Amino acid sequence: MTGRTQDALYAGIDLELSWSEDALPQTERTRHVHGLHPYLGKFIPQLVETFLHRHFRPGDCVYDPFVGSGTTLVEANAFGAHAIGCDISSFNCLLSQVKTTHYSLGALELALKGSLEEARRRDPLEDGTAGEWLEAWYAPQALGELLSYRAAIDRLDDPARDVGRVIVSRAARSARRTTHFDLDAPRTPVTEPYWCHKHRRTCRPVEEARKFLVRYTLDTVRRLRTFAQVRSGAEVAVLHADARAVELPLQPTGIVTSPPYPGLIDYHEQHRYAYALLGLVDRRVEEIGPAARGQSKGALRAYVEAMVGAFRNAHRQLPRGAPVIIVVSDSKSLYPEILERSAIGLEETRTRHVNRRTGRRAGEFFEEVLVCSTR
Ligand SMILES: C[S@@+](CC[C@H](N)C(=O)[O-])C[C@H]1O[C@@H](n2cnc3c(N)ncnc32)[C@H](O)[C@@H]1O
Repeated sequence: MTGRTQDALYAGIDLELSWSEDALPQTERTRHVHGLHPYLGKFIPQLVETFLHRHFRPGDCVYDPFVGSGTTLVEANAFGAHAIGCDISSFNCLLSQVKTTHYSLGALELALKGSLEEARRRDPLEDGTAGEWLEAWYAPQALGELLSYRAAIDRLDDPARDVGRVIVSRAARSARRTTHFDLDAPRTPVTEPYWCHKHRRTCRPVEEARKFLVRYTLDTVRRLRTFAQVRSGAEVAVLHADARAVELPLQPTGIVTSPPYPGLIDYHEQHRYAYALLGLVDRRVEEIGPAARGQSKGALRAYVEAMVGAFRNAHRQLPRGAPVIIVVSDSKSLYPEILERSAIGLEETRTRHVNRRTGRRAGEFFEEVLVCSTR
């Protein structure tokens, strides 16, 4: 893109969707519950907000068949629309549920602080049954603290227990034996001091987890309180299911979604620590387009078939003419066929300029929003 004029660069780009870092800083993109737990591959809330205003009205019901960390549900609720989210990853469902549950906040805070205190009073649990994966990825002290906290929150009732499960997952993510710059997808445990690209000095792998449990308990309560000020009483349903087969509890008005794209991300694997620690159900074999399957011809074919299955299943549960908003960078041009075979008509493609500044990835990046409707 270098050498091209600003005009050429921005021709055909929806400027309303192309926020600069100054206009939309990280703190706004991770405002209130959006920042409850890191998640690779989420879309920014302001994008959802803009499309809700363009194509939906308060009182409508918005469906996201690939709900991920729950961005659509949170924004739909703040907008005053009912929302249904479906995801094959049980951790993503847990996170979406925790973000959108209506809490009695005083009682929640008390329960969570009580669990922290109970975990602190116990000796770090080392029962030798944590399993190979946890033992390889955590220093003994860190693992003991995580297990003690998990035992403490297991005694809470829902919804506090689920909030505790998200807190311990976030602490487990931070306490892994990895480098500070590779938290998204570390490959092997790092047990020795290393040169840190992020902090430009020698850093050591983490040895303990308690400081994260304390920090994230306070942060979680603060974020839930902030969201409580803007949320509406609209209904939210989270379904742990395969989008190709799910039966929705009520008819949605339309869809806002960002589907997985083939060969980019393993959605179960990125939260492996949560599955290992909480014993969550693993349905990775039903994940569409996982990175592990690559981008071979066969993998792309399988992806197209799976997506047609998911959009057809959604289509039969939507009214005619329903808005279907799909955020995707379709570098392999797979969507014309997917949409055609799902009886979804493309009305326009909006292109947005993404300011990519996370981790060590930077530079120009463009994302498309397919604005469609059911035939
Ligand atoms: C790009 S992410 C969605 C991110 C979301 N928009 C957000 O902001 O967090 C795609 C999601 O599709 C889910 N997924 C993959 N295969 C699925 C399937 N068969 N049924 C339902 N969800 C699936 C993944 O688990 C992942 O959470």
